Amino acid sequence: MTILARRAVAANGAFDAVKNFYFHSRYGERRTDPGIADFTFGNPHEMPLDGIVAAIREGAVPHDKDWFAYKTSEEAPQAFLAREVGRELGLRFDPPDIALTAGAFAAISVAFRLLLDAGDEAIYSEPAWFCYEPMLLAADAIPRKVSLKQPRFDLDLDAIDAAIGPATRLVIVNTPHNPTGRIYGREVLTALAELLQRASNRIGHRIFLLSDEPYRRLRFDGRGFVSPAAVYPWTLISYSYGKVLLAPGQRLGYLAISPLMPAAERQALRDAMFSTQMALGWCFPNAVMQNALPHLDRLSIDVQALTRRRDILSEALTKSGHAVLPPEGTFYLWVKWSPGDPERQWNALADHGIFVLPGSIMNARDYFRISLTASDDMVARALPAFANAF
Ligand SMILES: Cc1ncc(COP(=O)(O)O)c(C=O)c1O
Repeated sequence: MTILARRAVAANGAFDAVKNFYFHSRYGERRTDPGIADFTFGNPHEMPLDGIVAAIREGAVPHDKDWFAYKTSEEAPQAFLAREVGRELGLRFDPPDIALTAGAFAAISVAFRLLLDAGDEAIYSEPAWFCYEPMLLAADAIPRKVSLKQPRFDLDLDAIDAAIGPATRLVIVNTPHNPTGRIYGREVLTALAELLQRASNRIGHRIFLLSDEPYRRLRFDGRGFVSPAAVYPWTLISYSYGKVLLAPGQRLGYLAISPLMPAAERQALRDAMFSTQMALGWCFPNAVMQNALPHLDRLSIDVQALTRRRDILSEALTKSGHAVLPPEGTFYLWVKWSPGDPERQWNALADHGIFVLPGSIMNARDYFRISLTASDDMVARALPAFANAF
């Protein structure tokens, strides 16, 4: 087997738990059964937002001969995003700071390719989205995992500092955080920025930060949001419209360079973005999605409905003795299993046709994640079981 093939196997190994859950578990057997209550992944369980169809239909009607020509990061959506994301985050982006990508997945791989050499280490905090590890391994980089601080899953700055060594090149922060729903505030982000500045001086090269923010617009109770890009100049932002539109199959997102980055480094990254996206297999969104972007940008799934489901489920689960971490953002609920065997409890729910994501997939076997993208009908059907000990 070639070295490249071995790397691919290693990357798949890191992803095995999710793959097995999706295809080969009791959930895998029943995931398309309309009778189940599916709280596993952030997928839609109701018809899409009307506005998405109108925007895509409009974006699909050709206005000129180039409508379906090769699309890179097109000037119009770049300019639109520089203005709108700039307003949202309080940052002065120039259009070339923003690369249009096929969702956050592509933005993250482009960021890894831009920032990481083979053997470089990237630190992230667990529990975490289960794709950072295989994506880092596929980039020939080394994942370094540190734990979030229980019980509220705060960033553990001491642990991050201790994990930094001569090979560290990147720290990934995901806020709002999947799976816990935490949003990290300005204070902790500022302390992290100071830490990264000190550590960069200590190890003699710059540590970059990737702020993975695909849930940025999904926030509860009017909470604010501070992007790490506004606090640490050496930050890249990955974003996806897949979450806010609940349409992850329509790939659209971007990778943005913090405009606070010193000019020379900012320009070097801008210059490298196009070739990197091309070399990784044309990571740009397709023509229709780029055309539709300004219309799609105004839309959101119903955060009130997510809030309602969050509250109903939190109350039922709390009554049945489960510790629920109140989410500040995302569309997930992070819940602790009762004392005892998590697998037995997962199976007891599955016996009722209720499927949740076991925390073991994210290296947190005492917890499970509920996706609030389940329909109201699924919530109503699951409520009696959630309200009882299981
Ligand atoms: C934290 C995080 N980052 C990135 C992604 C990828 O998003 P997309 O599939 O929209 O590219 C996800 C999707 O679940 C996620 O949870």
